[in-house]
Amino acid sequence: MTDLDTLRSTYLARVADASDANALEDVRLAALGKKGEISLKMRELGQMSPEQRQTTGAALNRLRDEIDAALRGKKVALEDAALDARLRGEWLDVTLPGRPRPAGTIHPVSQVTEEVTAIFADMGFAVAEGPQVESDWFNFDALNIPPEHPARQEHDTFFMARAEGDLRPPHVLRTHTSPVQIRAMQDQGAPIRVIAPGRVYRMDMDQTHTPMFHQVEGLAIGQDISMANLKWTLEEFCRAFFEVDEVELRFRASHFPFTEPSAEVDIRCSWEGGTLKIGQGDSWLEILGSGMVHPKVLAAAGVDPAKWQGFAFGMGIDRIAMLKYGIPDLRAFFESDLRWLRHYGFAAGDVPSVAGGLSR
Ligand code: PHE
Repeated sequence: MTDLDTLRSTYLARVADASDANALEDVRLAALGKKGEISLKMRELGQMSPEQRQTTGAALNRLRDEIDAALRGKKVALEDAALDARLRGEWLDVTLPGRPRPAGTIHPVSQVTEEVTAIFADMGFAVAEGPQVESDWFNFDALNIPPEHPARQEHDTFFMARAEGDLRPPHVLRTHTSPVQIRAMQDQGAPIRVIAPGRVYRMDMDQTHTPMFHQVEGLAIGQDISMANLKWTLEEFCRAFFEVDEVELRFRASHFPFTEPSAEVDIRCSWEGGTLKIGQGDSWLEILGSGMVHPKVLAAAGVDPAKWQGFAFGMGIDRIAMLKYGIPDLRAFFESDLRWLRHYGFAAGDVPSVAGGLSR
C-alpha cells in the first residue's frame, strides 16, 4: 500500500508542477498511459490471489480516479490562466484619445456617384452595369446609330485594335453609358427602372472635357411613362442633389438618335463674384441629355415598342460634381494632385444617404 501512497504523492505533485498543456500530457502518459506506472500496476492484478486482487484493485481504481481528476482540474486551470494572460495582453484603453483622421479622402467623383445612386435608389431605380470596352453594336447600332450615321463622328470615338484579318467592326471604349440601356433591357425586360453610372471615353480635352469622364444613365420603361414623368424625376433629383428648395430646369428641344422626342436640360445658376450658385441667376448650364426612348431602341433590346414606352437620360457626373462643389477645372479631377485631393476630397466613411444627408 505504501507503494501506492508513494505513487499518489509523486503524481499529484507532478500534476501540480506541470506548467503547460504539454507537460501535463507527459504526466498523464507516465501515470495513466498504456505503459504508465498505474496502468502497469493494474496489469499485475491478474497474478494476485482473489482477496488481494479485491483490495489492491479497489485501491488502484481510487488512485487512478484521483489522478485523473487532478489532471482534468489542472487542465482547466491551465486553460483559464492562458486566457487570462491573453486578455491581459489584448487589453485596450478605450479612454485614449482618437487617432487623427486617415490621410486618404473620397474623390468627388466617387462621392457624387454615391449621392446620385442614393437619390435614385430612393425613387426606385436599381443600379445596372456594362463593360467599358464595348462592342460597336451596343455602343451605336442598337441605339439607332447605324454605321453611316453622322452621329458616329460626333462621338470622337477611341477604337480598340483589331486582330489581323478580323473584318468585324472594332470594339470601342464606350462613348456614353447608353449601351447599358440595351444590356439592362436585354437582361431584365420591361418594366424596368435603372441607373447606370460609369466611365466613358471621348477624344476631347479642355477645361471642361477630359478623354475619360463619367456619366450616369437613367432608364424608366413602363406602359404609360411619359415626358412629364421625366421632368418630375429630373427636378426632384436636382432639388435633392443640389440641396436647394427651388431649382429651375430648362428643357431645350434637341436630337439624339436613340430618343424621340429629345431634350437637353439646363439648370438655372449664377456665376456672380466668381462663385457658382444653383437655382438663381441669369445663366444656364447644360447638365444632361434626355428623351423618350426610340421604338427602334426598345426593339433592338427585345422590348415590344407597341406595349412599352419610357424615358432615358444621360448626365455628366463630373459636370454636376463641379457645379455642386464649385470645382472650376475638370482636368484637375484626374491629375492625382495630393493638395487638390485633400482640398476637394471627402471624409472616408461618410456615406451619403437621402435620410442621413448627402454631403458634409
Ligand atoms: N448618351 C447621350 C450622350 O452621351 C446622353 C443621352 C442619354 C441622351 C440618354 C438621351 C438619352 O450625350
